Amino acid sequence: MADFTIREYKNRDYDAVRRMFGEGMMEHLPATGTHLLKLFQVQFFFFISFLGVLFVSQSYLLSLVTLAILFLAGRWQLNKEFQEYVEQCKREDLLDIEKSYMANDNSCFWVAESNDRVVGMVGAQSALLSNEVMTLRRMSVARDQRGKGIAKALCRKVIDFARQRGYKTVSLETSMVQYAAQRLYENMGFRKTSVQILPTLFGKFAKFSVLTYEFKIHD
Ligand SMILES: CC(C)(COP(=O)(O)OP(=O)(O)OC[C@H]1O[C@@H](n2cnc3c(N)ncnc32)[C@H](O)[C@@H]1OP(=O)(O)O)[C@@H](O)C(=O)NCCC(=O)NCCS
Repeated sequence: MADFTIREYKNRDYDAVRRMFGEGMMEHLPATGTHLLKLFQVQFFFFISFLGVLFVSQSYLLSLVTLAILFLAGRWQLNKEFQEYVEQCKREDLLDIEKSYMANDNSCFWVAESNDRVVGMVGAQSALLSNEVMTLRRMSVARDQRGKGIAKALCRKVIDFARQRGYKTVSLETSMVQYAAQRLYENMGFRKTSVQILPTLFGKFAKFSVLTYEFKIHD
């Protein structure tokens, strides 16, 4: 039997929810770094830098140290990008969760609770300018509680909520490096409807795509 329950968000969950969101996002940093290292332009930049320093200094050691410094600088910059994204989200809907999700009838936020601890979260909001599409947002499950079906239960909650309110579709966005999330949504019956490069400087440089998934409740 499941050792967790799903309930509506309460103000006392505020810190746990914001922390869990940040942790869930930051754990995609290594996969993003790996993706970057596979890009031709990144490999070319490292190669040219290595050769340039070698040519000028005639020192393999200095060239390797330069590579290490460039690698660490890249990692630092990536970390900063992720931190900024998390902070931005915390200034948007996650700043006042009560107001963003609980104040009207067409949005809601749920947490999964186990042994009096918040172990999962998800939000549902009516899409801007549409009364047919419900968006699923901020799905995250505590790392030590994964693989127990918590995300599936949270997902079902959003679908049921949308169905009860007469919405036709549940839509969500995830990224190319969120592999577990992609499997989760595909297994839940969501279909990938678009893949788009993130419209930021980082997105364009890193060829970092955002995937949109949709679940059809009815046509
Ligand atoms: C994605 C996430 C929410 C899944 O949470 P979870 O509670 O472990 O998921 P569940 O136990 O409900 O598993 C549901 C399905 O997801 C998929 N899945 C979950 N973890 C997976 C993994 N590590 N690798 C591949 N598929 C995975 C499986 O299809 C699984 O179904 P199955 O067990 O029948 O095969 C969790 O990994 C997470 O919080 N990640 C960090 C934050 C994030 O990426 N959120 C998504 C935002 S769009």
